Amino acid sequence: MEIIHYPHPTLRYQSKTICRVDRELKAMVREMFELMYDTRGIGLAANQVDLPLQLFVVNASGEPGNGEELVFINPVIDQPKGSEVSEEGCLSIPGVHADVNRPAQIHISAYDLEGNEIDMVADGLLARVIQHEYDHLQGVLFIDRISESAQKQIAGELDAFELEFNGHQASQKIPDQATILKRLVEVENRYC
Ligand code: CO
Repeated sequence: MEIIHYPHPTLRYQSKTICRVDRELKAMVREMFELMYDTRGIGLAANQVDLPLQLFVVNASGEPGNGEELVFINPVIDQPKGSEVSEEGCLSIPGVHADVNRPAQIHISAYDLEGNEIDMVADGLLARVIQHEYDHLQGVLFIDRISESAQKQIAGELDAFELEFNGHQASQKIPDQATILKRLVEVENRYC
């Protein structure tokens, strides 16, 4: 398992509902937490590790053994309140940061790995991480939500990511689009 980088097509894929949790999925969630800690993140969505599933993990403390490890399966966000601007980054676009305006508070309902319902009101950093990860599941990246002037500022960095990705596809380190898509459909069919 590894974190895929912009502009990998799985980052733009609409993640699918999870109908069952098996031992393999639980192991993948564990691995997602480890990857997230290793890369100094506080949230990670399944499609960032090339899994087309509606699932993301969060630990706002960013440290193993600290804070709370949260797993959100098939999440729905509603009841947005207020707005707040804060700087964001993303493990799939490492090194790029920009201000994003988001609701300051949200309500999220979801399921955890044991099938328990999660029903939570979040604000502050937790609300921001949850919205950022939820966006991933819809194929949305934080760079889609930044100002035009901020987009101009990071354009060069995004170009570099695109060059790197094209190089990886040319050298077959990353498969071609058709192979990527075929594997995504296989994975989503395994879980629903
Ligand atoms: Co991200």
